[in-house]
Amino acid sequence: MTLDLHGSSAVVTGASSGIGAVVAARLAARGADLVLVARRTDRLEELAARLRAEHGVEADVVPADLRTSDGVTAVVKAARAATKPVGTLVNNAGFGTHGALLEEDPERIEDEVALNVAALTDLTRALLPDLVAHGSGAVVNVASTAAFQPVPRMAVYGATKAYVLSFTEALSVELRGTGVHAITLCPGATRTEFFDVVGTEDAAVGRFQTPEQVADTLFRALDRRRPPATVVSGRANALAGAVVGALPRRVVLAAASRLTAG
Ligand SMILES: NC(=O)c1ccc[n+]([C@@H]2O[C@H](COP(=O)([O-])OP(=O)(O)OC[C@H]3O[C@@H](n4cnc5c(N)ncnc54)[C@H](OP(=O)(O)O)[C@@H]3O)[C@@H](O)[C@H]2O)c1
Repeated sequence: MTLDLHGSSAVVTGASSGIGAVVAARLAARGADLVLVARRTDRLEELAARLRAEHGVEADVVPADLRTSDGVTAVVKAARAATKPVGTLVNNAGFGTHGALLEEDPERIEDEVALNVAALTDLTRALLPDLVAHGSGAVVNVASTAAFQPVPRMAVYGATKAYVLSFTEALSVELRGTGVHAITLCPGATRTEFFDVVGTEDAAVGRFQTPEQVADTLFRALDRRRPPATVVSGRANALAGAVVGALPRRVVLAAASRLTAG
């Protein structure tokens, strides 16, 4: 089955680069109108123009800093103003910080929690009634393979992604029978601007995927009649996630410490 999104809108946060930009293009190819969110408006305008031309969809650009409640409010307003009802919400905007907590900039980690956790939660809560009223669709929350174990030297980032995983899996149960699915997308290391923002590739584990491969994983899940609550992109990443889940926590922590020693 191929998911047909004609007649609905999709909200994608972090659509100005990387995974978000590719996922937005795939949603447009399935017929969804787009509400594209990020801070870099020029990038969003460029993407919107391309998607309108290539797929004949409507694409609205919403400049918003999702670390702030004003940013979240602007997105909710724009989503409700879209011509077609919201059928897909992709909470993808996020960033990571690296270093021992003792040395991390307190403002930066506050921003990390505000974006990766608070904005994702608030947007989901605010737009969920619209999705449920529409009666079909998905909330896609982008976590990471960092969600499966503690990540020394990226303690805050790992914890934010563990939150996304726990939150979204719980939501997937609550939404049963509504026609709306909650899906946690867990990419491993992916070639985007992510590590430019982190400032180092020291924390990258395993082979890099492309954002297109991550989008392939997501759409394979979305095309299933009953999408799984969690999808991991890349076979090796999925296997590692399964192994971590089966091991005692102290073994996992010792392995995580070695892998992230830099
Ligand atoms: N790349 C990886 O290795 C990897 C692995 C696992 C999970 N992930 C997750 O995948 C998601 C997408 O990341 P990516 O790899 O595609 O990285 P990316 O290329 O750096 O994209 C991040 C996106 O988030 C947006 N963003 C950042 N801060 C924002 C803010 N305050 N308000 C609104 N938007 C903001 C950025 O847009 P602006 O800067 O224009 O605002 C950009 O569009 C993130 O949640 C990340 O944690 C990435």
